[in-house]
Amino acid sequence: MNDPTFPERFTAAFGAPPELIVRSPGRVNLIGEHTDYNDGWVFPAALDMGTVVAARRRDDGRLCTVAARLGEADAAPLADLCPREGPGWTRYVRGVAALLLSDGHPLPGADLLIDGDLPLGSGLSSSASLELGVAVALLGLAGVALERTALARLGQRVENEIVGLQSGIMDQLAVACGVAGHALLIDCRSYAVRPVALPAGARVLVLDSAAPRTLAGSAYNQRRAECESAVAKLQAARPDIRALRDVDAALLAAEGWRLDPVELRRARHVVSENQRVLDSVAALAAGDLAGFGALMVASHRSLRDDYEVSGPELDALVAIALATPGVLGARLTGAGFGGCVVALAAASDAEAAAMSIAARYRAATGRDGRAYVSAAADGARFGRIAPLA
Ligand code: GLA
Repeated sequence: MNDPTFPERFTAAFGAPPELIVRSPGRVNLIGEHTDYNDGWVFPAALDMGTVVAARRRDDGRLCTVAARLGEADAAPLADLCPREGPGWTRYVRGVAALLLSDGHPLPGADLLIDGDLPLGSGLSSSASLELGVAVALLGLAGVALERTALARLGQRVENEIVGLQSGIMDQLAVACGVAGHALLIDCRSYAVRPVALPAGARVLVLDSAAPRTLAGSAYNQRRAECESAVAKLQAARPDIRALRDVDAALLAAEGWRLDPVELRRARHVVSENQRVLDSVAALAAGDLAGFGALMVASHRSLRDDYEVSGPELDALVAIALATPGVLGARLTGAGFGGCVVALAAASDAEAAAMSIAARYRAATGRDGRAYVSAAADGARFGRIAPLA
C-alpha cells in the first residue's frame, strides 16, 4: 500500500494531481466465522495489505475511475450511476456513490485511481476494503465526516442491496475500525468494537490457498437462510430468540429435534463458534496462546463438518500448517469455499513457518499458494495531500 509513485500515476491518468489518498485495509478473521449475520461475535484484525484510492474533484458531475490492477476504467454521470448493471468491480464503486447520494450526501464529481496489494477474492475482504476506500475518498472530497459504524453499514448495504450478497457486518467494521497491533472483538448485535492487543510473542500468518471461491455467493446466502429457518423453528419453543446468538448449547440440545439435520448442523456450528470467540479472547488475556490455537483448530473442524464451507485445498493447507514447527493453530478464514487460511505462530518461528508451509502446499497441490506474516493495521483513513481549492 506504499507505492511512492502513486500520486504521479494519478496525475498521468487524469492530468492533475490528487487531492487526497485513502488507505483502506483488508481484514483477516482470527476466529468467529459465519457468526456475524447471526448477531454473534467475531474477532478480526485489519491487515497491512489493502486498497489505496487517490481522488480529485471534477466539476462536470461525473465519476471516473481507473482500476490499476485490472487495467480497466469506468465512467458515469453521478446522476445516472445504474450501479447494478456494470461489470464486477464497478458495482462496488458506483454502488458506494449511489448509496451516499441517495442518503443525501452532496458528492462532487470525482476522478479515482484505485490500486492495492491485497489478494483479490481470497477471503481477505477485498470488496469491503474497496467499498470503504471509495466511501472515505468521496466523503473526503465532499468535506463530509461519517462515523465509522455508519461507514461500515454503507459498505454492507452495497453488498446486500447492490451486489446481492447477504453478508454480515464483520468485514466492513474491521476495515473501518482497525487498530494497529490489535484484533477487534466485535459484538455484531450492538456493533460494540473492543480492540484487544495481539501478544508480542505471536504472529498472524495469512495463507492463501489460491483455490477459487466458486460457490461463494449462492452457498453463502443459502447458509444464512438455513440459520434463519433454524431460528424460526426454535422460536416455537422460545419466542424470545431473535437470532442464533440467543441460543446456547443446552437450549440446542433440548430443542434441536425441531430442526432438520442440516439446520441442526448449521446451528451447532454457530452456537459453538460464538462460545469459541469469547473463550479465545479469554485465552489471549490469560496469555494462553496454545489454548487460542486449539480453539482455532476446533473452529476449522466445525466449519468443515457442520457448516460445510471448507474444501480439499483449505483442509490440506490447515493440515500442513498444523504440522509445521511453531504453529499454534490454523483455520479457514472468511466465508470459505476456497480463499485463505489464518494461522497463529510463535513470533520466533513465523517467517520460517510461512515459507515452509507455502512450499509444502505448492508441492502437495500444484496450486500457487502464498504465505504472509501479517501485522494488524489501522482502519480506513485518508491523508489530504493538497489543500482543497
Ligand atoms: C464473509 C462475509 C462476512 C462474514 C464472513 C464469514 O466475509 O462478508 O460478513 O459472514 O464471510 O464469517
